[in-house]
Amino acid sequence: MDSTYTRSDSKVEVTGFEARHYDFFMNLITGGTYPLFIRQAVKDMRIQPADSVLDLGSGTGRNIILMNKYLSEEGRVVGLDIGSEMLEQALRRFANHPRVAIEKRRIEEPLPYQDEFNKVFISFVLHGLIQEDRLKVIDNAYRALKPGGEFLILDYNEFDLRRSPWLVRFAFKLECPLATDFIGRNLQAILREQSFDRFRVHKYYFGYVRLLAAHKPA
Ligand SMILES: C[S@@+](CC[C@H](N)C(=O)[O-])C[C@H]1O[C@@H](n2cnc3c(N)ncnc32)[C@H](O)[C@@H]1O
Repeated sequence: MDSTYTRSDSKVEVTGFEARHYDFFMNLITGGTYPLFIRQAVKDMRIQPADSVLDLGSGTGRNIILMNKYLSEEGRVVGLDIGSEMLEQALRRFANHPRVAIEKRRIEEPLPYQDEFNKVFISFVLHGLIQEDRLKVIDNAYRALKPGGEFLILDYNEFDLRRSPWLVRFAFKLECPLATDFIGRNLQAILREQSFDRFRVHKYYFGYVRLLAAHKPA
């Protein structure tokens, strides 16, 4: 299964017109429900006022705006992304912000963080990476977290596409082909193999989307 896909199958590096209007497209394709959904998902992250949060593939920074509402002066967020149009929007949003830093980095490459963050968040990125890179990202998240910290993955849940309603099957025809591979994998088992434990789950959109939180043992 792992050798079926190569990096060229990935569509998760959003560029061009789609990138420049990414937030608008997300609202459009979810029938206007995205703002409510993402507000609830960020609430479910259970961010504490003094938390330090690393957002892997932070996109336009839309989620960081919501996270910031839970942070005090002591909290901070670092957002990493590789897409120039996505980065431009995030950099504009947080120019001179005292508690938010946006950096251009590939999240599957070694990251310069060790035991530094209370939370590592990744939203709708992991499904679009090849399995080898997913494991590298999970490893990076583990290293970046403080002991007792939480890795929060907001993405598609596991489900059987063949038994899903036609609308879901249609949506997956337009999705990155790697998304179909992702929903067939047991993410909790993968995280457990990488030493994470104590999971909690929040579900959205009839259970097709999940926030999976996993602890780095204290
Ligand atoms: C589908 S968007 C999601 C953006 C954001 N997390 C959100 O939920 O709104 C995927 C993002 O991941 C970024 N990305 C994809 N592959 C990446 C990589 N290897 N390293 C860093 N960022 C990456 C893309 O540039 C894009 O901004």
